[in-house]
Amino acid sequence: MLLEQLSISHCRVIEKAELKLSPRVNLICGDNGSGKSSILEAVAILSRGRSFRTSRITDVIRQNEEAILIRADSHDGENHFRIGIEKSKTTTRIRVNQQDINTQAALSRYLPITIIDPNSIELLTGSPSIRRSYVDWIAFYLFPEFHSIWQNYQRILKQRNLCLRVPKFISALPVWTDELIKAQLQIISYRERSLELLNPQLAIFADQLLEGHSIKLKLTSGFAQAMDLSVESQRAFYLERQETDIKSARTLSGAHRADLQVLFNDQIAQHSASRGQLKLIAIAMLLAQSRSIDPDDKRKGIIAIDDLAAELDGDNKVRLLSTLRGLNQQLLLTTTQSELIPLHDEDCMFHVKHGKVVLNDSSV
Ligand SMILES: Nc1ncnc2c1ncn2[C@@H]1O[C@H](COP(=O)(O)OP(=O)(O)O)[C@@H](O)[C@H]1O
Ligand SMILES: [Mg+2]
Repeated sequence: MLLEQLSISHCRVIEKAELKLSPRVNLICGDNGSGKSSILEAVAILSRGRSFRTSRITDVIRQNEEAILIRADSHDGENHFRIGIEKSKTTTRIRVNQQDINTQAALSRYLPITIIDPNSIELLTGSPSIRRSYVDWIAFYLFPEFHSIWQNYQRILKQRNLCLRVPKFISALPVWTDELIKAQLQIISYRERSLELLNPQLAIFADQLLEGHSIKLKLTSGFAQAMDLSVESQRAFYLERQETDIKSARTLSGAHRADLQVLFNDQIAQHSASRGQLKLIAIAMLLAQSRSIDPDDKRKGIIAIDDLAAELDGDNKVRLLSTLRGLNQQLLLTTTQSELIPLHDEDCMFHVKHGKVVLNDSSV
């Protein structure tokens, strides 16, 4: 997927901006506070419905304005898509090729964007839900049916939790337990298939960014103890834990408690890698995420990096830049240092000042 034209209205400091993007490197330069990250936030809202910096849309809507509006022309090699999203405090309107559509997931399909920013290290240091979303993102793009399977699991989990919480529903507990068991076996299998595609990509980026150190990802099941996950053994497990689940008023084990173990040289990364290495591991994981949804080189994801120079030191920066150049994907990079990347013919450089964006003509 490529973004060709991006139009942003009322996003933080940006009143209105139009960017005609390069299919390769787009370097977005400007001083602190000029509006660089706001551009990436706009792209994130288009792709996921929310910013990567805040979950509150009101933070992002420009002061004294009602709604944020983001539109883009994109194409996937064969077809053109005109996509757009308008969000106010209370409403969301999504359009694809002049048709209103009613789910964010349907819009997200058109725009697989991976965002790397200084908080990406939370992929390792943050809560398991961040790592589950990381794997589920891959399953979402690789397997069109995964999203409804995931939604179904959430629905079943809610019903089972209701049975645990409300005494008059307790008789339905065995039914919802069985449904949960069935649904989570599906989720586990999709997550495992995603990891199978992810791990080889990760090995390549580990080699390029971490000088031969190895990174491997392993899925944990979401059950406190290692156990066989056959239907029978799960049934026995949930029965044995029923009282504890009732006391907590929720289901304490299952796919919604799964985690991803990140192994750095076969040891838990969070306990063994330095902070600098953790940052590089997170970057390698995110680049691998973007590559793994494109096994046949057809549906390329877009990679956006906010302030890439800020936290990487000399050698690491050089290694990352050469890795990015080798990706053959569309890149949106923000920086305060316009000399950061020597630009090639096809690349674009934009300057942002007080929320206004201009194309630097000498770059094209
Ligand atoms: N809702 C808003 N309305 C108007 N301006 C905002 C809003 N939220 C943040 N800003 C302003 O936008 C700017 C932040 O832009 P940002 O994209 O983070 O800059 P950069 O990434 O270039 O450092 C700041 O100057 C901030 O004061
Ligand atoms: Mg910024």
